[in-house]
Amino acid sequence: MLRPKLKVAILISGRGSNLQALIDRFGPAIPGSPIEIVLVLSNRPGAFGLSRAEKAGIATRTIDHKGFADRAAFDAALDTAIRAAGAELVVLAGFLRLLTDGFIAGWQDRLVNIHPALLPAFKGLNTHARALEAGVRFHGCTVHFVRPDMDSGPIIAQAVVPVRPEDDENSLGLRVLAAEHRLFPQALRLIAEGKVRVENERAIVTDAAFAGGILYNPLGA
Ligand code: GRF
Repeated sequence: MLRPKLKVAILISGRGSNLQALIDRFGPAIPGSPIEIVLVLSNRPGAFGLSRAEKAGIATRTIDHKGFADRAAFDAALDTAIRAAGAELVVLAGFLRLLTDGFIAGWQDRLVNIHPALLPAFKGLNTHARALEAGVRFHGCTVHFVRPDMDSGPIIAQAVVPVRPEDDENSLGLRVLAAEHRLFPQALRLIAEGKVRVENERAIVTDAAFAGGILYNPLGA
């Protein structure tokens, strides 16, 4: 029997290059997509990602956090909009607001984030500069379920890129971003296909092709 499409809301704050990677794989123009993007929601008016969604024919909303007295009120408005759109999974794709514990609890194991580092290393901001500063040889990105502690939660997938001696923040960031654009759609596809579950705070992926996890050949990256 054909599995119904997983209804997904994508939250953004800015340029939306990860959103674009998801539209390219799962947007209305893609036949046989296991995912339907039912809403793209930005907390920033005029975020470039909104126009990417509009161009693809996807519903958009802007809920400006500045219009709310506190985080709880803002998150309640987010929650209402997401549920009204019928979303079953919430995807943070460069959404630059911390979410309240209440919101996160309401989407337990149905709220996914992409972080531009190999968690649990380099949580927070400026991950590429900090990776260079630390002198690590490998860097990358992580897709994970969201928990109340910032940038924590069961890890679904990671991709690794090399750090080259001549790298600066920009060159390293671009290499990681290219990996994000490959990893995020693959991780969401696994979820949509029912191949990801959480046990004892670890994400278990049951997919033969994914048995060893995704590792992009660092030397080829
Ligand atoms: C990405 O690096 C993502 O990992 C981080 O925010 C950035 C968003 O970039 N959470 P974009 O808006 O998808 O281009």
